Amino acid sequence: MSVDATMHVVRPGRRDAYLDWLQMLTGAGLVLFIAFHTLLTASIIFGAGALDGVAGALEALHLDTLAHIFVPILFFMHFVIAARKIPFRFEGQEAIWRNARLLNHRDTWLWIVQAGSAMIILVLGAIHMWTNINDTAILAATSTVRVQSGGWLIFYLVLIPLVQLHVFIGVYRIGVKWGFITDATRPKVVKILTIAFGCVLAIALIALARYATMTV
Ligand code: HEM
Repeated sequence: MSVDATMHVVRPGRRDAYLDWLQMLTGAGLVLFIAFHTLLTASIIFGAGALDGVAGALEALHLDTLAHIFVPILFFMHFVIAARKIPFRFEGQEAIWRNARLLNHRDTWLWIVQAGSAMIILVLGAIHMWTNINDTAILAATSTVRVQSGGWLIFYLVLIPLVQLHVFIGVYRIGVKWGFITDATRPKVVKILTIAFGCVLAIALIALARYATMTV
């Protein structure tokens, strides 16, 4: 390789290693939150009383207040740290796209889906958190009215698959990057994660159908 070709390559240093750790930790924190959040919102499948009961128990423990403070912090920290890897200039995006087509490798495509979904989740997630944090409490009555008004159903139809996709690709990437998933276990883990993704997505969409059709 000529000197010219390597001149612009920045060697990763100790700071980058710390940032990678933080990226993984904030990402893992959000994965745990979303897993918990999916279970909470999916309780509506069993009726309005189930959602109100679970939400009431969380509120009694003040976990909602904790979530209102720490989830937005985690969400924006994760974005800022991970964004350093995303090219925001057109030339960079074009180069990544060209390389992805050239390599045509599953993990490279997954990285592109991860970066693309992140941009949409950033906007929709921020709107969603703002709306919900400003509610006095999590109630089936409030949530069903919201989902049945304005463009909220379409909003969630976009957000649900993107969030779940981002979460599952994130788990896979953490596993590969930090050595939990090896070459030997990779095909099996990919199969398990794909099935789990399908099941979780189905549960979230069934819950959304309940929010969209239930009268409380
Ligand atoms: C403190 C933070 C959060 C609170 C209090 C909260 C609360 C809620 C509530 C009450 C619902 C039911 C629908 C509604 O009332 O609008 C909901 C649905 C949803 N939330 Fe959140 N949320 C939070 C953070 C997040 C984050 C960070 C994401 C991902 C970016 C997210 C993604 C979703 C999705 C995809 C749904 C639809 C679930 C379904 O119908 O299966 N939420 N959230």
